[in-house]
Amino acid sequence: MGTLRGKAMLARKGEELLNKLISQDPTFGGRLALITAPQGAGKTTLLLKLAEALMGNEYVIWRGRDLAQFHRLPDWRKKVKIFAHKHDELTFYKLEHGSEYAEEIQIKVHKYETPEDILKQLEKDKLNVIFEPSFYSISEELALEVLRRSGLRINKKQLSEMKSAYFWFEFLYRLLLRPDRRWISILIDEIDDTFPETPTGLQWKLQAWVKDIAKDLRKAFITLIGTTHTNTHVDWKIRSKMQARIYLSGAQLEEDSLINDKEFPLRLAIGTALIEWYGLGFGLFKFSKLPEKNYDLLVQKKWLGPIPTLTEDKRREGSIAEMVRRVAMKEGIETALKLIDDLKAQGEITPRWAWELKRRIKSEVPSKTP
Ligand SMILES: Nc1ncnc2c1ncn2[C@@H]1O[C@H](COP(=O)(O)OP(=O)(O)O)[C@@H](O)[C@H]1O
Ligand SMILES: [Mg+2]
Repeated sequence: MGTLRGKAMLARKGEELLNKLISQDPTFGGRLALITAPQGAGKTTLLLKLAEALMGNEYVIWRGRDLAQFHRLPDWRKKVKIFAHKHDELTFYKLEHGSEYAEEIQIKVHKYETPEDILKQLEKDKLNVIFEPSFYSISEELALEVLRRSGLRINKKQLSEMKSAYFWFEFLYRLLLRPDRRWISILIDEIDDTFPETPTGLQWKLQAWVKDIAKDLRKAFITLIGTTHTNTHVDWKIRSKMQARIYLSGAQLEEDSLINDKEFPLRLAIGTALIEWYGLGFGLFKFSKLPEKNYDLLVQKKWLGPIPTLTEDKRREGSIAEMVRRVAMKEGIETALKLIDDLKAQGEITPRWAWELKRRIKSEVPSKTP
């Protein structure tokens, strides 16, 4: 009896929270959510289902990847609108399961140069799939915005650094500045590519900025939903801003989860999601699978633009010390120590240098908590 009532309550709460995630409430604004589950647990399926639920009500953006997943949407040719940078040439290959051959297929691609070009062409009834450019450097305006909002100075060299992932930061910035209040949802499968756990240099500054603008995104009616197989692979600064966490079968709960039973996700059946919402509680909802496709879709991106100069990424120890100190001042010693451990684990710094950095931080930076 008690269990049944418990189950009914979880289902009711789950429906309520799912509804909150996919509905447009101007007083609430955009939503930020992270879906966690191991490989094969249904993350991409759920993200596509959410896309279907949002399409028509919002402008839905999907990050394009080499191994496409958008073709798993029923009737995808009618529903998908593809964007690529003007210097990237996309080629699509259909890989039928079990076949030895890749068949090239034609799909219309819309070209963009700036995020604004994309904003003008977004369609509400479609899944707008954006392939990030092979190379991208941020604008001076964004650098100034990061300085203004987060107090982080981006130097000349970083301004000319080129990396695909930087595009998304510029895109978010341009979305904040857009002169309209359309509802926009950005769905990022495998979001740890975009917001990795231990970024360094410019990537770190940009991610710190995203943390600082999380509220502005919501106020600007921007929703961000990502998936990851291991939540700790996503920058905790950004993770901590996610209002909703969704766990599928086998997922690891966040450390500060409201759910006491850490094994709960292990008992979830495929097709059942556990959703928790900061301040609102948790519940369960179900989602069905998509029709199986008998082929994969591979997308090859070829850069035809000017070749960026290849410079070696030789970070001087001094700049790392500087970065660690800044983290310590801004976010506390504990965070800085964790960053040092991460840098060491990544092989960015030697154990000896890590030890020395820790010593310096502890002696130089006043402890925040008494
Ligand atoms: N709700 C569901 N019910 C039954 N099978 C599902 C469900 N969701 C996903 N699946 C199946 O599980 C497999 C993996 O799904 P996928 O979404 O690709 O997982 P992930 O992205 O987590 O690796 C697919 O074959 C998919 O059809
Ligand atoms: Mg997947």
